[in-house]
Amino acid sequence: MACLILFYIFHTSLFGEPHKISATVLRSNNAGSDPKANASATLACMVGVPCEYSDEVDFRVMVMTYDRPQSLEKCLSFLENIDTMGDTMRIEIWIDRSSEGEVNEETVKVAERFRLKGNDCGVHVRERNAGITGQWTDTWRPQLGTKEIGLIVEDDVDVSPLAYRWLKAAHKTYDKRSDIQGYTLQMQNVNFFGGKMRPMFAPKNETVYMYPVLGTWGFSPHPKTDLPTRWYKGFEKRHQEASMWEMWHIYYSYIKDLYCVYCNLKVHTGKGNVLLSWNRKEKGLHFDNKQVVKSTADLLSRWNDSFVVFPRKTIQFFYNGTIYRRA
Ligand SMILES: *[C@@H]1O[C@H](CO)[C@@H](O)[C@H](O)[C@H]1NC(C)=O
Ligand SMILES: *[C@@H]1O[C@H](CO)[C@@H](O)[C@H](O)[C@H]1NC(C)=O
Ligand SMILES: *[C@@H]1O[C@H](CO)[C@@H](O)[C@H](O)[C@H]1NC(C)=O
Ligand SMILES: *[C@@H]1O[C@H](CO)[C@@H](O)[C@H](O)[C@H]1NC(C)=O
Repeated sequence: MACLILFYIFHTSLFGEPHKISATVLRSNNAGSDPKANASATLACMVGVPCEYSDEVDFRVMVMTYDRPQSLEKCLSFLENIDTMGDTMRIEIWIDRSSEGEVNEETVKVAERFRLKGNDCGVHVRERNAGITGQWTDTWRPQLGTKEIGLIVEDDVDVSPLAYRWLKAAHKTYDKRSDIQGYTLQMQNVNFFGGKMRPMFAPKNETVYMYPVLGTWGFSPHPKTDLPTRWYKGFEKRHQEASMWEMWHIYYSYIKDLYCVYCNLKVHTGKGNVLLSWNRKEKGLHFDNKQVVKSTADLLSRWNDSFVVFPRKTIQFFYNGTIYRRA
């Protein structure tokens, strides 16, 4: 437990204030009262039950949103431009409700407009408040043996048009390993947070590296591990669900010795315009700023196959940033 508290503190210093999430996760059926919720949802996915989709696509992006219609609109405009190299892609927009059960109509409108434009897209209005934890853990449950690549983003994250190219190559190389919990697009505000906090990156000659703590600004879970859904249920049963899901995730990674794969292109190329994602830090659960950070021109927009020439042995860092091993 002391260990958990320690991580909690580290984590809070890394990501800012903890999320406000609902203490109780209630179950009921999604197909219920709101006709909009049903408009394109294929399955009745409920709060508290990880959503397994009936179809399979190559790339599925889960967008978590609540009451920031403009932020969602921006986020979707970036997702629309993702280069899928001919692969199939589907976007699932998950709109949460307040704990009083209210849904932000403007947010629903933005999502519906996006869908009606002809995008392959599901609009899911939560039947009840899921909270940020529920949004993270219950929006993508990979089918067993699937090759589907999932990506979970919050609505204030901009994603590079080349993110899927990178993710696909990374999954192809590392999915066969059993020590990976996922892949992150996050390259901004990444810090080692054990010991003295400092920016996290690997030596110049490495295109990727691994760290036990996940990057949440665009996270693609390893399809074969129990993350980020099934493992969480154990904690929930012990009535600890009110805590931040990342905290459990960190603890889980720690006890299982699992790593998140990070891209080192900024250091590797010496260029700024190679970001796979960007967080606009919109006012909400994570940030309380008045001045919204604008989208950046630094998202990766020119591909070079050398970006995905991965090392034969990849650096794995300890929490405190010392190299644990190459494997
Ligand atoms: C709800 O979804 C079902 C199954 O996809 C569909 O048959 C039905 O027409 C939908 N109802 C509304 C009101 O959209
Ligand atoms: C791709 O990257 C390699 C290695 O950094 C470099 O030598 C080459 O010029 C790049 N190609 C293009 C088209 O930018
Ligand atoms: C990077 O350089 C270090 C030190 O010279 C070396 O041990 C490592 O194998 C190199 N990594 C790659 C991917 O070549
Ligand atoms: C980092 O952690 C490892 C493992 O606990 C330890 O062996 C190493 O000395 C630590 N390094 C620093 C600089 O604290």
